[in-house]
Amino acid sequence: MMKYTFYAFLACVVFFANASAQELRSPNGKLTFVFSLQKDGTPTYGLTYKNKMVIKPSHLGFELEKDSVSLLNGFQVMEVKTRSFDETWKPVWGELSSIRNHYNELAVSLLQTKTNRQLVIRFRLFDEGLAFRYEFPTQKNLIYFTIKEERTQFAMTGDHTAFWIPGDYDTQEYDYTTSKLSEIRSLFKGAVTGNASQTSFSPTGVQTALMLKTADGLYINLHEAALINYACMHLNLDDKNMVFESWLTPNANGDKGNMQAPCQTPWRTIMVSDDARDILASKMTLNLNEPSKIKDPSWIKPVKYVGVWWEMIAGKSSWSYTNEFPSVQLGITDYSKAKPNGTHGATTSNVKKYIDFAAKHGFDGVLVEGWNIGWEDWFGNGKDYVFDFLTPYPDFDVKGIRDYARSKGVKMIMHHETSGAVRNYERHMDQAYRFMKDNGYDAVKSGYVGNILPRGDYHYSQWMVNHYQYAVEKAASYRIMVNAHEAVRPTGICRTYPNLIGNESARGTEYQAFGGSKPNHVTILPFTRLIGGPMDYTPGIFEMDVSKISPNNHSHVNSTLANQLALYVTMYSPLQMAADLPENYDRFPDAFQFIKDVAVDWSDSKYLEAEPGEYITVARKAKGKDNWFVGNVNGTNPRTAKISLDFLDKGSTYEATIYADAKDAHYKTNPQAYDIRKMKVNSNTQLDLFSAPGGGYAISIIRK
Ligand code: NOJ
Ligand code: CA
Repeated sequence: MMKYTFYAFLACVVFFANASAQELRSPNGKLTFVFSLQKDGTPTYGLTYKNKMVIKPSHLGFELEKDSVSLLNGFQVMEVKTRSFDETWKPVWGELSSIRNHYNELAVSLLQTKTNRQLVIRFRLFDEGLAFRYEFPTQKNLIYFTIKEERTQFAMTGDHTAFWIPGDYDTQEYDYTTSKLSEIRSLFKGAVTGNASQTSFSPTGVQTALMLKTADGLYINLHEAALINYACMHLNLDDKNMVFESWLTPNANGDKGNMQAPCQTPWRTIMVSDDARDILASKMTLNLNEPSKIKDPSWIKPVKYVGVWWEMIAGKSSWSYTNEFPSVQLGITDYSKAKPNGTHGATTSNVKKYIDFAAKHGFDGVLVEGWNIGWEDWFGNGKDYVFDFLTPYPDFDVKGIRDYARSKGVKMIMHHETSGAVRNYERHMDQAYRFMKDNGYDAVKSGYVGNILPRGDYHYSQWMVNHYQYAVEKAASYRIMVNAHEAVRPTGICRTYPNLIGNESARGTEYQAFGGSKPNHVTILPFTRLIGGPMDYTPGIFEMDVSKISPNNHSHVNSTLANQLALYVTMYSPLQMAADLPENYDRFPDAFQFIKDVAVDWSDSKYLEAEPGEYITVARKAKGKDNWFVGNVNGTNPRTAKISLDFLDKGSTYEATIYADAKDAHYKTNPQAYDIRKMKVNSNTQLDLFSAPGGGYAISIIRK
């Protein structure tokens, strides 16, 4: 330990002794950032937190395609500009009603003398971390260019613990592996689990947001913000030196970025704290995105919904109406002649059952999947025309459902599965969005299951990033909210386009019906996937034995019922599903009450406890009300913790309803064992609360 600290100190001194170094401090003074040019003109940066090194001297730059001179070295500093920024803004929806954006900035203008090319590197130092991006100003010698690789380094100070998923150009739908950095290589193959479509680029390649913990208790998070017109960044680890380097997702032709100056990269972000709660509470990713471009956001509303969904995922019913023929490709659209398979989920009568349930229990919306023709062939990857997003199956009455939902005050949520045929989707998009508006749908869940067309393109390439962005912007022009599944993981773009109310882009509840997920998965996701934006995790499963609803499916939901309730608070999202079947909620009406009561938009959020992989406890205040909701999710070790309700208004009395694991609850053997108790509480109340393995608790605190 002593030795390690000594070397870190030495490296610090050598680095900071560089005469041309530029130094910047965070507003609270805890973070210090240094930029310098090496002797050969290589741009280099480093970061310290409370005088401890976080990022050792790390290189910055690019290799360009068809160009012998890379943007790696030979630079000189032309100009350095600093400024401070402090502003508070109000999100359309969020964890807080107002967000402070406070940083010190350093913009270094560089000239590569040999080529006469300019590059600006802009650094922003927040209290929670460092962000930087590359900017290519308008110039004669660098107009159109192709990136061969971005060479941004993040040099670690040791063999940290990492919460990682394997590098993949197409999916983040993995369980997390917790290991030392030095173990990634040996654990890599085993980490490729489930239905993931592995397109591995390196046996030490991982995805962001990457969560790390150092031996001396620093929490570090590496990610990106404002991923626009650029490829998604992965990280490749040099596990001899513990240096991560950026690894961009290629386009179909292998190019990693087609650029035209003036342009810029996304922000590369490094959050750091000795308190894990600071990582969860940080709004740095949102702050690095542009303010909202939607002038009148009155049509954007947080949504709590149910849907014709889990029954298909579990295998009880089917998306397709018939098994008879792959029809759309053959030009056969007269499904009235096709033989029904008898298991179709999206029938008018079944949908009405969900609408009735939503209306009875106060849900805003009903999602219906499998309503449109094409599903009998939807795994037909490599076919360009599977869905038209317009034609319903014969047993789904679009207008009848529209009128029925309207009469019950419930909104319908559209589903667009593209099956990866992206150009097909773009060709139909205007018509499909218009069809939605004509039939009472204000929100769409889109999906990108399968290989992308054009062939060879990856889900996370620049080309696909542009597609997802196009879909969100076009939807905004129709006043439609978007929840994209299998799209690139979010990077805070919902600040600029708050109609992007959800994304999947990680392993959600569906995997509980595909075999199960690790019980501590939900204690890691807020540190990784949720750093970039809300997730449509689809919580609320009450029946953990999937065979009870679909006899041939022997999957187990690795979670207690109380843990499922807590997810509405711990997995922040303005879009929350109650994913289980209505009949399962009817069996547990007392626990279901929490899902009915919990808010989906917040004026305040307090992270009470947090340790990645172990536990997260959050308290949130409902927007416009003096009601609080608390959620705790727990990993595999049973735990009792004291929680202080000192966040409540002093002098006010509230009624708390505590939905907790029973003493003998266990995610595997006894998941439905919970206790509910009510008590009067105030800001002096302290609660001793127990969480079972894979368990947790949820509390509603209502002002009396
Ligand atoms: C995968 C999505 O994550 C899931 O929610 C959806 O039901 C299926 N694709 C079908 O589109
Ligand atoms: Ca998915």
